[in-house]
Amino acid sequence: MPKPVRADPATRPDARGASDAARVWDPVVRLFHWSLVASFATAWFSANQVEALHMWAGYVATGLIATRIIWGVAGTGHARFADFVRHPRAIIAYLRDILRGTEARHIGHNPAGGAMVIALMTGVAALGVTGWMMYTDAWYGDDALAEVHGLIAKGVLVLVLLHLAGVALASLRHRENLVRAMVTGTKRPPEEGDIG
Ligand code: HEM
Ligand code: HEM
Repeated sequence: MPKPVRADPATRPDARGASDAARVWDPVVRLFHWSLVASFATAWFSANQVEALHMWAGYVATGLIATRIIWGVAGTGHARFADFVRHPRAIIAYLRDILRGTEARHIGHNPAGGAMVIALMTGVAALGVTGWMMYTDAWYGDDALAEVHGLIAKGVLVLVLLHLAGVALASLRHRENLVRAMVTGTKRPPEEGDIG
């Protein structure tokens, strides 16, 4: 679990050069994220339009989730699930802090962001499984399954919108561009009171 950062004269922001950015997201996480955005968008817009494209975009998204699960266990630093999967109590406490405007800056995912990561990954995996099932002998042509698949897809879209709102809120509150951080992999170094 990440720890609060202590005051240390040698690491105070004014004691460092601009090149001391913290390396947060490794290349696997960044490639995973932007490939997931592209494959999810492709699957969404090709649904009921171009069947083969829809299937393959959906399978790519599902394969990315499988890779990220392995990386969440075998990877290092902020990529690890152990770094950002928190107890529901910690997530609720963090959401309360947001309402009070006192939430700490996290160098990795904050507790609410960590919960969203798990929800998004679960949702996309469920789309992959239900999508695959529709092509099995047992479920082929099953209207209820198609309905469930469509409902999960809409649920994940709602989560994506909340995800974007969370990213925008954290970027504004802590005055840093989190979208750019997911591109470059770097963030402003931890300061006193940050969790990292
Ligand atoms: C253009 C749209 C999107 C933008 C700008 C965006 C931005 C971001 C940012 C900035 C983070 C890091 C948050 C942090 O600092 O804690 C992140 C993480 C994440 N986003 Fe997105 N996101 C987008 C769309 C999506 C979509 C469509 C999905 C899935 C369907 C998604 C799934 C995730 C996941 C799983 C993570 C965790 C990354 C990891 O730890 O590997 N995002 N996103
Ligand atoms: C990120 C992954 C995926 C997303 C976002 C997604 C999204 C959607 C959406 C929005 C629909 C339309 C639902 C409706 O009309 O109410 C749909 C339908 C469908 N999807 Fe997916 N899907 C994904 C993965 C897959 C996969 C992996 C497969 C199969 C290999 C698949 C097979 C289908 C089929 C067969 C339908 C048509 C269902 C029907 O008969 O109405 N999907 N999907």
